[in-house]
Amino acid sequence: MAKYKIAWMPGDGIGLDVMDAARLVLDHMRLDAEYVPADIGWELWRQEGDALPQRTIDVLQGTTCALFGAITSKPKDEAERELRPELRGQGLSYRSPIVRLRQMFDLYCNLRPCKAYSGNPLNYRDDIDLVVFRENTEGLYAGVEFRPFQGEVRAALEAHSPAMARFKDVAPDDIAISARVITRRGATRIVRSAFEYARRRGYKTVTLVEKPNVLRETSGLMVEAARAVAADYPEIAFWDTNIDAQMMWLLKNPRDYGVLVTSNMFGDILSDLCAQLVGGLGFASSGNIGDRYAVFEPTHGSAPKYAGQHKVNPMAMLLAVKLMLDWLNETDRAQALEAAIAAVVREARVRTYDMGGSHGTMDLAQAVADHLE
Ligand code: IPM
Ligand code: MG
Repeated sequence: MAKYKIAWMPGDGIGLDVMDAARLVLDHMRLDAEYVPADIGWELWRQEGDALPQRTIDVLQGTTCALFGAITSKPKDEAERELRPELRGQGLSYRSPIVRLRQMFDLYCNLRPCKAYSGNPLNYRDDIDLVVFRENTEGLYAGVEFRPFQGEVRAALEAHSPAMARFKDVAPDDIAISARVITRRGATRIVRSAFEYARRRGYKTVTLVEKPNVLRETSGLMVEAARAVAADYPEIAFWDTNIDAQMMWLLKNPRDYGVLVTSNMFGDILSDLCAQLVGGLGFASSGNIGDRYAVFEPTHGSAPKYAGQHKVNPMAMLLAVKLMLDWLNETDRAQALEAAIAAVVREARVRTYDMGGSHGTMDLAQAVADHLE
């Protein structure tokens, strides 16, 4: 029996292309793993009304961890229109399967390293080495949302929050509420993950990026929890900043920062900015990590216009494989893979279109594999 069982979820669009690249590299490394295919994606939503069916969850439950390619997500109305006619009008509602997976498996830590590999023509500057820790299960993406906004929920908010008075006369369908849910446990564990990482990997600072001057309760709780955690890591400087200013400073002085930690939506935004500093989404990988399970993915979407052409840059996916190898404690393989990726970037012989080259997805994967010799 193989040492690891890895759920294999290409998903949609270029998810399939970059997963082919991942497989080429994994096979080359001879990782002692069995890859178990699992269905996820837009087609399943259209045909079955669920992009993440129960059979997939069952597969995941029997595996060590999962690799995920990409998925197409569309807003509510558009999603409803694309359903098979028999399924329309039944109140099925599309919620991003990756967000559901993060919540269902309590993958609270979204780890997004953004490192500028030298020689990458897409680097904003060289020597950038940022690592975003994004809380992955709560915040504004917790799924606590209301529209129409009426009944007991509305009455209770009106009774308890003076700030609601201004919206008193707005019709139920003309107002929508998304709750920003932060718990002390959620805040504490993401900040602790960030500090542990900083300690293990020698980063000198951890920056909490929030907005406590306005979001007094939710960001306030993040800051309170973070300060308590920071006290356990006296050798690491703890900075807390506001999200708006932090976005500016990252463009101005990206080299001043190391580990960044924040709540779910801020982390979604911040991590795209950090990705762009080091070559864009073609280089951005994520680990969705819980205490017992993890799902690794490139941060990019399914890019339908490139689907099946094996044209896109697979580096984000290969870096996600590297994160998986780290998580599996396959440290030598993880380091070898990162070194191979860095060498391919540095040598500049094989490049996809985003880097100004004309090579395909599999050419890059092969070049990385060749460096693993
Ligand atoms: C990401 C993506 C997802 C998110 C989408 C696809 C739901 O943007 O992983 O950053 O918002 O988390
Ligand atoms: Mg995002």
